[in-house]
Amino acid sequence: GKGEYDHYMRKEIDAQPEALRGTLAGRIDGDDVHLEEFPPGTFEGVEHVHLLACGTSYHAALVAARQLTRAGLPTSAFRASEYYDLQPVDESTLAVAVTQSGETADTLGALRRAREADARTAAVTNVVGSSVSREADDTLYIRAGPEIGVAATKTFTSQVVALTLLTHRIASDSEAGTVREDAAEFLAALEAFPNAVEELLATTDARTVSDDNMGRDAHFFIGRDFEYPVALEGALKFKEITYEHAEGFASGELKHGPLALVTTDTTVYALLTGERGEETLKNAEEAKARGTHVVAIAPEGMDVGGVAGEVLRVPDTHPDLAGLLANVQLQLVSYHTAYGLGRSIDKPRNLAKSVTVE
Ligand code: F6R
Repeated sequence: GKGEYDHYMRKEIDAQPEALRGTLAGRIDGDDVHLEEFPPGTFEGVEHVHLLACGTSYHAALVAARQLTRAGLPTSAFRASEYYDLQPVDESTLAVAVTQSGETADTLGALRRAREADARTAAVTNVVGSSVSREADDTLYIRAGPEIGVAATKTFTSQVVALTLLTHRIASDSEAGTVREDAAEFLAALEAFPNAVEELLATTDARTVSDDNMGRDAHFFIGRDFEYPVALEGALKFKEITYEHAEGFASGELKHGPLALVTTDTTVYALLTGERGEETLKNAEEAKARGTHVVAIAPEGMDVGGVAGEVLRVPDTHPDLAGLLANVQLQLVSYHTAYGLGRSIDKPRNLAKSVTVE
């Protein structure tokens, strides 16, 4: 049950450290990754990767696509419902379905199309025995525990972490791939990551930020690099449970159109974590000059004065993981805003937890 919580969503946000410990348990060993489901050598012969997913899982796939591409494996993330003859598929293709429920019809359909074109298949899912686990050649379970709120929260975080471990395995198995140079340091940061989430949850000011921005006409989320998928995810969660107008943009794209939407009655949530945070700060400044209110989601110690009216801080971690912490702040902003507006948080209108029609 919900216990002391008003909503499952809130309970599941708070359960992220525990969910992540489940995802990571026994899977990191010094500078190597140990996945029972995928022993070393599993991915020999893989030359490129297609990630197939919908909604929040697609945003997790976008993060993983960047990681895999940087590890030397050309990777594309596709919205499963749009995966039709877009790129060549053959035996050197690894098609990975990313789906929390394992039952999403669009994702299962895309996986079947990949298999029919001779791709090798894998699944990343939370639900043991789900349809996807029966259809894919092999399955990696994210082990986040059951998620009841319709809005995916802890499972997004655990999916990204599970995909990070999978990236390591694919990169070391495949000829094309190279394991990152800072693997030992990165994997140590991953092991400590549940503690960073815990620290964030204990110190967040997300509720105040929600109260201050509740009445605005629109809410825009901007980020670049690993923070771009986080901007998309922040906006999806926000529209899903608050029913307010929210959009996520690549921060560099603002000036190519969306800036026309920015007024004194809007809020821009600027994701300033990660290697490219300073560049996004410049883009936030351009929005600020048009009178918008800026909320920064920034690492400890970053000077955001002059641009941001408010700031949500993110504890220290590896820069490639900091966006995931920023995302937890955005989950909380969405939750508190929806709460303040009296929305049906665990069961938003018109939505279902798993979408079993194409
Ligand atoms: C958003 C959300 C949906 C799902 C999407 C895919 O909070 O929950 O966007 O992410 O329907 O679901 P799965 O991951 O079960 O395939």
